[in-house]
Amino acid sequence: MEMKKIYFYPVWLRLWHLVNAIMFLILIFTGFSIQYATASSSWIRFDIAIAIHDIAGIILTINYLVFIFGNQVTENGKYYWLTKDGGWSRLKKQLHFYTFGIFNNQPHPFPLNEHRKFNPLQKLTYILAMYLLLPILIITGLALYFPQIFDYIGLQSLVIADMIHIAIGYFLSIFMVIHIYFCTVGHTMTSNFKSMLNGWHEVHDHPEDHP
Ligand code: HEM
Repeated sequence: MEMKKIYFYPVWLRLWHLVNAIMFLILIFTGFSIQYATASSSWIRFDIAIAIHDIAGIILTINYLVFIFGNQVTENGKYYWLTKDGGWSRLKKQLHFYTFGIFNNQPHPFPLNEHRKFNPLQKLTYILAMYLLLPILIITGLALYFPQIFDYIGLQSLVIADMIHIAIGYFLSIFMVIHIYFCTVGHTMTSNFKSMLNGWHEVHDHPEDHP
């Protein structure tokens, strides 16, 4: 079967993703250092770790607005739209592929094309990460950066916001590890990473995709 290339990752998206990934790694490292610091020891000096964590968080937040705006004004946003029906059965098909089909050389159930950039499982996890978990992480992070607002809310709100912030931070760190693993099971082990660097994604050319 012939291969063709689709320009899936425009420059703005690649820059957003690069900044996002770097800030994430810095936030995870400094976040761990802050969380597990004791009175006598920590990976990074406590006040320095907080300062770096705050700056990286602010950069990540501004960068997140780039993602939202970019998805709003370019075609990339449409790849995140949920399909109206059959969502569950599509997810099951994809899960079946990852647990059985992939080991038996079966064809991908949802081959990528100009209209489909993500498989159903990928789409769901990206939507949850980008439109649910990351906004909660950012909102709780901003609230902790301006702790005066908790004086108005009261009711242990600072502790609750802190717990949510840490829990979502953990979820997204786990997401990142799984995300990187799934990026290795593309066309070849490195093809998805190369696509994120040069913008082009190689797919099988399915004649039925042509009008
Ligand atoms: C070192 C860390 C990371 C690496 C190596 C990495 C790698 C990749 C690669 C290779 C792709 C292209 C394949 C695909 O479309 O799925 C991708 C896309 C994507 N990544 Fe990551 N990633 C990292 C961190 C993150 C983080 C922390 C997030 C979000 C919290 C994230 C969110 C996304 C999203 C939403 C896409 C799809 C973007 C689009 O095409 O609209 N990534 N990543």
